[in-house]
Amino acid sequence: MLTLGIETSCDETSVAVVEDGRTVRSNVILSQAIHTKFGGVVPEVASREHLKTIVPIYRQALDESGVTLEQIGLVAATMGPGLVGPLLVGLSFAKGLAYSRQIPFVPVNHLEGHLAANMLAHHDLKTHHLTLVVSGGHTMLVEVFGVGEYSILGKTRDDAAGEAFDKVAKILGLGYPGGAALDKLARQGNPAYFRFPRAVRSEEYQFSYSGLKTAVALHVQSLSAEALEKHRADIAASFQAAAVDVLVEKTVAAANDRNVSDVTISGGVAANSRLRALLSEKLAQVGKRCLFPPMDLCTDNAAMIAAAGYYRYQKFGAGELVANAVPYLALE
Ligand SMILES: Nc1ncnc2c1ncn2[C@@H]1O[C@H](COP(=O)(O)OP(=O)(O)OP(=O)(O)O)[C@@H](O)[C@H]1O
Ligand SMILES: [Mg+2]
Repeated sequence: MLTLGIETSCDETSVAVVEDGRTVRSNVILSQAIHTKFGGVVPEVASREHLKTIVPIYRQALDESGVTLEQIGLVAATMGPGLVGPLLVGLSFAKGLAYSRQIPFVPVNHLEGHLAANMLAHHDLKTHHLTLVVSGGHTMLVEVFGVGEYSILGKTRDDAAGEAFDKVAKILGLGYPGGAALDKLARQGNPAYFRFPRAVRSEEYQFSYSGLKTAVALHVQSLSAEALEKHRADIAASFQAAAVDVLVEKTVAAANDRNVSDVTISGGVAANSRLRALLSEKLAQVGKRCLFPPMDLCTDNAAMIAAAGYYRYQKFGAGELVANAVPYLALE
């Protein structure tokens, strides 16, 4: 079955065609560059950009996939969580398409989409597994028992991991969103240059990133302009080490506690090189697998939404066309 996926929850307009929840036939992603000058996503501007680009991106996705709309068996679109205006553009477009062509429709939880990126990329992933969701808006450890069966073991009490990467990147003058640029700069720095605080002693699987972000800001303020210029890469590397160490420590502990053999990383921060390397290493030491999506399936994309929609359709059937955008939609 060919699924058309649509994702517009934030500042990426993306449309994809995925076959049987396993094979990506096309996955067109347009990241809205306009927000860079504001240093963050402006919701109203994002909605307007989605409106301008959704039709051409949809046409490009069909063209690149080599299939026609008549061959599409399912339409899936993100209904939340995300920004309500942007969500409404993709969701309304998807519902209109499904209704006019009498194609079954499935609304998708964006976080379930991030989880599905791993199912799409790793066909032998065990049904029962643990996933670390680390994105621009979320940081949580989730035990997965099957499609739609999730137990959240813990989440962040304040900022998300991706948000902390973006804020520190901004402090270091790397632009927005700066997670990937910070990762790159950190490779040239010394992770042991400065020991930033690691919030590990709080409740078991809860995370906290606001203290770390403030510690970096205070450290940067204490430096002279010359010292800052000299140590930018070291600060990036030291921040990244603190941020990643906590994620790795808690994920390995949860994997042992919950007795799972497969652990996945989901969401944009799954692209982080230190997180991928360190979590793989520590899980291998206890005989567990660490899986993460290829780069293009880590940050927001419609292929993961198409895959999540397909799995949901197999298990629960089609959804309702009355489905509305839900900005704070929960995973559980
Ligand atoms: N290599 C990297 N290292 C660290 N962070 C990264 C890297 N690449 C991307 N990111 C971060 O990933 C985040 C984007 O991820 P994603 O697109 O999943 O978030 P989102 O969709 O905004 O949030 P959510 O999925 O929670 O709604 C940004 O914060 C970005 O800086
Ligand atoms: Mg996302």
